[in-house]
Amino acid sequence: MRHLTMTFIISSWVCIALLWGCIVFAADTATDEPKHAIEKQQAAVYGAYLIRVGNCMGCHTTKGGQPFAGGRRLSTSFGIFVTPNITPDKATGIGLWSEEDFWQALHQGKSRDGRLLYPAFPYTEYTKVTREDANAMFAYLQSLPPVSQSNPPNDIFFPYNFKPLLAIWRALYFKASSYEPDQSQSEAWNRGAYLTQGLGHCNACHSTRNVLGASQDDALTGGQIMGMNWYAPSLSSQLEAGVGDWAIEEIAALLTTGITQRAVASGSMATVIRQSLQYLSQADVHAMAVYLKSLTANESGNVPGVSFSVMSGNLRRHLDLGGQLYEEYCQTCHGADGKGASGIYPALAGNRSVMMKSPINAIHSVLNGGYSPTTAANPKPYGMPPFQQILRNEEVALVVSYIRNAWGNRASLVTALDVDRNKGGGY
Ligand code: HEC
Ligand code: HEC
Ligand code: HEC
Repeated sequence: MRHLTMTFIISSWVCIALLWGCIVFAADTATDEPKHAIEKQQAAVYGAYLIRVGNCMGCHTTKGGQPFAGGRRLSTSFGIFVTPNITPDKATGIGLWSEEDFWQALHQGKSRDGRLLYPAFPYTEYTKVTREDANAMFAYLQSLPPVSQSNPPNDIFFPYNFKPLLAIWRALYFKASSYEPDQSQSEAWNRGAYLTQGLGHCNACHSTRNVLGASQDDALTGGQIMGMNWYAPSLSSQLEAGVGDWAIEEIAALLTTGITQRAVASGSMATVIRQSLQYLSQADVHAMAVYLKSLTANESGNVPGVSFSVMSGNLRRHLDLGGQLYEEYCQTCHGADGKGASGIYPALAGNRSVMMKSPINAIHSVLNGGYSPTTAANPKPYGMPPFQQILRNEEVALVVSYIRNAWGNRASLVTALDVDRNKGGGY
């Protein structure tokens, strides 16, 4: 009898406790939950936009693979990095991560277990992203379907695979930071600076790197991209890709469509536009254009380019040979006057990327051909065929030297050795 009473008392307690639990739970779902869910949904929508601006998918997806499941191999001079799975799969992705863990990765370059991450993940720039924006991106990533996919480990060369080196590298070159608005500038300028320096990680390519792969500053002064035969031109010099004398609308058009009257985005820049910049909202692309336009303000006068005061007979013959090749292989598209066809074939006359001090992008275009980016505004871009199999190194050198010096263009000549050095390692 006593036993039964005890059982009764205990089970009543259990019932009351359960009921209480249910009431609390019901109250919770009735008030907080929907509000919370809506906030989360809104954050995820904005997060999806930010994830585009950061081009996270570009690196964290293999060709034809599941979005964000990682596995893409990035070759650098330090080895091959394999991007991790950032879908919310609990075993192979970031399904067990909290907002805090994600913030730590983006802001501090540390994984959930405290492992230091390699700067092949551009957290050196993403560190400037605000906590609010990071949370929104996290909400979006967590809303994706989880993909179970384990990826192979990084294959980093000796001695860079010696882990303590990464800690030393970070001590020397990385400091978690946030974007500090410049009060003397407009709101648009500050928004543009925040996007360019942070999430847009333009500096990851448009900067000079030292032998340890660290970029020297935030000034976007241009540099050779690691592991690729592309030179990302200076955005702060009018001689390269500075846009100080461009109208805001033209800069915005270049960023979102990749082609304007005087420039066309090629190679990895075309990819950045296709995967990321074409999706910028009008306000954000305007802001970025305002900021980019201001970058050449400190440039001291015009640095003179190459000038041939006297054209020697040899030089003339050299350029004539290049001219013949141009007529045969290039003229149909780029025109006898080098002016191309508006919006279809870029002009080579007066084209800064053709005349840049470093000829590697022009060489690259001729060897590998290419497309300007496929965007909503330009869904079927015209392409250029690769000439790698058609022209010998000497011929590529001749025709590139020609386009660098025809129609009033002026730049140094290119040798067969320059061409040879820049074969392979494409994009
Ligand atoms: C240029 C290529 C590149 C881009 C762009 C990039 N990542 Fe990564 N990411 C990497 C690489 C490489 C690693 C692994 C680094 C390592 O192994 O130390 C990584 C690591 C990570 C990690 C840590 C995962 C883990 O398991 O520790 C997270 C989280 C992450 N990235 C999120 C993002 C987000 C969010 C974006 C966009 C804002 C982004 N990544 C853009 C290359 C990239
Ligand atoms: C993955 C490397 C990479 C990233 C990231 C990158 N760029 Fe570029 N960019 C390049 C390369 C390579 C070129 C040279 C090829 C060309 O002229 O299109 C270039 C060229 C340019 C040009 C000149 C285009 C022309 O033909 O005159 C502009 C402007 C530019 N980038 C702006 C940006 C901005 C703004 C960002 C950040 C939102 C950015 N880039 C991020 C690689 C990159
Ligand atoms: C079938 C048309 C076609 C032919 C033939 C052609 N091109 Fe192009 N070219 C293009 C298109 C389209 C682009 C823009 C796509 C891109 O930059 O990837 C381009 C881009 C370029 C660029 C890059 C310009 C920039 O601003 O980045 C150079 C340099 C170039 N071509 C030189 C040549 C030379 C030299 C030849 C002959 C050996 C040649 N092209 C033949 C269509 C053509």
